[in-house]
Amino acid sequence: MSSLALEVESSSKPKHRPLTRWVDQVAQMCKPDRIHWCDGSAEEYQALQRLMTLSGIAIPLDPEKRPNSILVRSDPGDVARVEDRTFICSRSQEDAGPTNNWEDPAKMKEKLTELFTGSMAGRTLYVIPYSMGPIGSPIAKIGVEITDSPYVVVNMHIMARVGTHVLDVFGEDAEFVRGLHSIGAPLAPNQQDSTWPCNKGQKYICHFPETREILSYGSGYGGNALLGKKCHALRIASVQARDEGWMAEHMLILKLTNPAGESKYMTGAFPSACGKTNLAMLIPTLPGWKVETIGDDIAWMKFGADGRLYAINPEAGFFGVAPGTGMKSNLNAMLTVNKNSIFTNCAMTPDGDVWWESMTEDKPAELVDWLRRPWTPNSGRKAAHPNARFTTPAGQCPAIAPEWEDPKGVPIDAILFGGRRAGVVPLVIEAFNWQHGTFLGATASSETTAATTGKVGQLRRDPMAMLPFCGYHMGDYFAHWLKIGKHAPVSKLPQIYYVNWFRQDESGKFLWPGYGDNSRVLKWIFERCDGNALAQDTPVGRVPARGELDLDGIHMPAENMEKLLHVETKDWLAEVPLIKEHFAKFGTRLPEGLQTELAALVDRLKSDKQ
Ligand code: OXD
Ligand code: MN
Repeated sequence: MSSLALEVESSSKPKHRPLTRWVDQVAQMCKPDRIHWCDGSAEEYQALQRLMTLSGIAIPLDPEKRPNSILVRSDPGDVARVEDRTFICSRSQEDAGPTNNWEDPAKMKEKLTELFTGSMAGRTLYVIPYSMGPIGSPIAKIGVEITDSPYVVVNMHIMARVGTHVLDVFGEDAEFVRGLHSIGAPLAPNQQDSTWPCNKGQKYICHFPETREILSYGSGYGGNALLGKKCHALRIASVQARDEGWMAEHMLILKLTNPAGESKYMTGAFPSACGKTNLAMLIPTLPGWKVETIGDDIAWMKFGADGRLYAINPEAGFFGVAPGTGMKSNLNAMLTVNKNSIFTNCAMTPDGDVWWESMTEDKPAELVDWLRRPWTPNSGRKAAHPNARFTTPAGQCPAIAPEWEDPKGVPIDAILFGGRRAGVVPLVIEAFNWQHGTFLGATASSETTAATTGKVGQLRRDPMAMLPFCGYHMGDYFAHWLKIGKHAPVSKLPQIYYVNWFRQDESGKFLWPGYGDNSRVLKWIFERCDGNALAQDTPVGRVPARGELDLDGIHMPAENMEKLLHVETKDWLAEVPLIKEHFAKFGTRLPEGLQTELAALVDRLKSDKQ
């Protein structure tokens, strides 16, 4: 690629000494053919797209249908985050806690040094300086990812603010998170490259929280490889947040405006592939109400001078799950991905566009599936991989809030937790207070999805939707939540809610219409925050009082509403041993406040039964 490399070569090597020294060391170890410092320019993006197209990694889509967009298909052995290959290498095993895989940092570095040695032979080493968060925001942080994957570079261009100029703003000796990534597929001289080089058999996604380092080897997919996202903005940042008194959360951020033009900001933590992107871009079915998007996956929150929690979206793009996204379920996402987007593991139409399950009501008559096989609706298999993704610039979203890049962030009024539960959990619960809300988050549970490798549909506790993303002991993370709650007067803290759009009746039919009708629940939350809607106490929290949820314009039989909000004492008593078992994992690091909440829940359930 040397002539193409010249085209993308930039003179943007910065003066930052610790960075240039680190890059030299890495280059000596990984032995790339070339080094490229990314300037983050549009020209660089184009050159890399061209390079990927010429080498067969990417297929340009029809520019009339989807301008400046490409389709990439991965190796079938590299399609999702690999939680069993993800490690928190803190000095002490205890600090990684029971929910993370741990390895001694020195041992892991030794192992990885072996793997990284010569791993970039025949390839280009790209240095990607990036900012997570609007450049200049007091909440933003910087990182530098070194990678040998041009696919990673173009994705990072969309997902973060990328380029050496980032370092100018933060200073020549600024602290930064170091992320080293290699697909682990060195090329011998004249060896033909594959269209998705990776190392299926040897994947390591490793975090060194004390030294703020990430080492990722073997996978080129999503959160395993785009190190600014899950590795930096959640696993490393959660540790930084603990140390510095702020919060790094797996949360969407939305702005909700009522017909009178008043707005509130809400964040929402839901496990992967449970509809965060849909909720962040929701089109309310309630007349006069409006949702605008600030972020769809990660929120960094810090207390402002006024004692309120302010959130920024550290990302600049959306890396959304494609299947299930359609004109009906998420029109705004569909309009966002109209141009300048990267599609991964989607199917391809004969006229050069992409397709995935539920994109359109009718399936196309023929396609090439994500495994490059001819496909028809009678093929009896999915055309797109269930974790197929789009990478698309957030600024293109028609619902993006004008203040989405405001460096000071947006003040948060409500925090939502949720998951996929077919039974037991009501449509919405309001926490009695911050400590109870932390308990609701800490006990959140959901049926698993395809965002990670492993079985789909199994119930797992996913505290605050952070199970795969918390970079330290989860018991300490709960304690951090409780500490945050003591930092501000109650009147300044967001109220906490737990929602479940997925409750089913006895025959397995969803009781709640979901999507745009979720605005009805958001409206109740909005009005609760102002003290303008009524709630009813139950042993598990407050639910909307009868008639308080606005059902105007939908047909919802009263008995269905009853079922949606119903708290069945015996079902909840049956959850208690499961919660105890879950809490037992955290041993002495489980904060007392959560034990108190569990005991209080049991008391309320028991007195409710009598
Ligand atoms: C994601 C995830 O990609 O949570 O956002 O898996
Ligand atoms: Mn996510």
